[in-house]
Amino acid sequence: MSGTGTHQLSISINGRHENFDVEPRSTLAELLREQAGLTGTKIGCEQGSCGACTILFDGEQVRSCLMFAVQAADSEVWTIEGLASPPPENQTSPTPLAGLPELAEAFKRNHALQCGFCTPGMLIAGTLIGEACGGAINEERVKEGLSGNICRCTGYQGIVQSVVEVFELKTSNPAGEKPQ
Ligand code: FES
Ligand code: FES
Repeated sequence: MSGTGTHQLSISINGRHENFDVEPRSTLAELLREQAGLTGTKIGCEQGSCGACTILFDGEQVRSCLMFAVQAADSEVWTIEGLASPPPENQTSPTPLAGLPELAEAFKRNHALQCGFCTPGMLIAGTLIGEACGGAINEERVKEGLSGNICRCTGYQGIVQSVVEVFELKTSNPAGEKPQ
């Protein structure tokens, strides 16, 4: 803890170690948006119900509005900015959720976003579900897996369709070869 009542901590964010001074009551979502400038992580309900603030935290899906920033000391965090972009040259660890950029393309194709507020959380949750389902992916499993992520615009059909489409294809064609 520093002399001003803030805490000093180091976090790996999107493959790079960064240091922060944080207030004891700051949430991880606030740190990401306000101190790290990563506004792709959205804040909606601030009580764990909507999934807009979903990030990858030490490999697990986490609602960053429910965590204090100090709890993230020495952890590895990935946000939509790092997961959806090509890695910068100085990135020290490989980018997880390799299927996410492809899912983002499918969202565009299938009109799975309108205002986009839920989209970062949907992409992270959707990729995790798709990877976990493997060959057993179907609409019901995707709907169940996304039930904690709320979208007020799309009616969900394009979102569910995109996850099934991308991960069905990956399972039937794991090498990613284009059909002749
Ligand atoms: S803002 Fe975190 S779950 Fe809604
Ligand atoms: S696209 Fe607007 S909340 Fe989902």
